[in-house]
Amino acid sequence: MTLTDRFGRAITYLRISVTDRCNLRCVYCLPQHGAQWLARENQLSVEEIARVVETAARVGVKRIRLTGGEPLVRPDMAEIVARIASIAGIEEVSLTTNAMLLERLARPLADAGLKRVNVSLDTLDADKFKRITRGGSLDRLWRGLAAAEAAGLSPLKLNTVVVNGLNADELPALARLTIENPWHVRFIELMPVGNAQDWGEGFPVRSERYFSLQEMRAQLSTFNLEPATQPKGNGPARTFRIPGALGTIGFISPLGEHFCQNCNRLRLTADGYLRPCLLLDGEINVREALRSNEPILPLLQRAVDSKPEGHELLMQHYPESRRMAQIGG
Ligand code: 5AD
Ligand code: SF4
Repeated sequence: MTLTDRFGRAITYLRISVTDRCNLRCVYCLPQHGAQWLARENQLSVEEIARVVETAARVGVKRIRLTGGEPLVRPDMAEIVARIASIAGIEEVSLTTNAMLLERLARPLADAGLKRVNVSLDTLDADKFKRITRGGSLDRLWRGLAAAEAAGLSPLKLNTVVVNGLNADELPALARLTIENPWHVRFIELMPVGNAQDWGEGFPVRSERYFSLQEMRAQLSTFNLEPATQPKGNGPARTFRIPGALGTIGFISPLGEHFCQNCNRLRLTADGYLRPCLLLDGEINVREALRSNEPILPLLQRAVDSKPEGHELLMQHYPESRRMAQIGG
């Protein structure tokens, strides 16, 4: 049996936010001070997460991505990975991380059954990295990447959120990383999710931040990018290669084009709500069912049935109920 939505899209991929907490405060994601975290008792336990995955696997979900907040701040991450990786039907467990804790955890997570990691990397300048993440260390990130490669967590994907007036001028340098590394660098348009407020001194104001797909492509025109296939996974990125490069370059453009047609996913928030669409509010409470021992399958079915055909960002319908750190991107 497979889950298919009203628009014929098969749902085979579940993104699970395991915590909304984070050890960084990226300007576009979290406020510098006073972030509100979920109460611990509302966070799903390893067993609760596993029950959702078991049910989803029975109806055709094959790939799981663990996200946050920052998933590696959860002390039981290796246990979560091991538990999920052992579920029949689950072919791949991957993780999206800021890499601050990756150097130490790459090996134990790989041993637990993790297959791949996506790492957020918005700049190659250590000072700017520290400013954007409000305290992160680029050096630690590089060490985390090296540890991930040594542990076989590949192919590595790097996510760059592109912001005009902040890092858009670094696209060529970031793209060049793919020439000698077998990495997949993905440029992501800044999404209007919980980041309307001022980012503080020295950052672009809201009306100036957007950098379109067309502008990104123009920025990289000298590379003569050729179409390529995406390494592993079938996310929403359009994929290209610098001729002769070991890695690839992808563009993720929710506002630009072709973002929703091939959507194959559901999301589970850290507090146990199924979210049919990243970019539209509307969720289904699974935690309550889990805690009162009711069946999960009808809720999964309902979440799939309520997947919209596409987001409504161009109609100025922005999601407001949660910040990105609570949804997991
Ligand atoms: N727009 C686009 N991407 C975002 N991310 C966080 N907030 C946003 C946003 N508003 C990215 C992070 C990370 C991934 C989980 O989502 O940089 O790579
Ligand atoms: Fe943390 Fe990721 Fe949000 Fe940055 S983008 S603050 S690393 S959750």
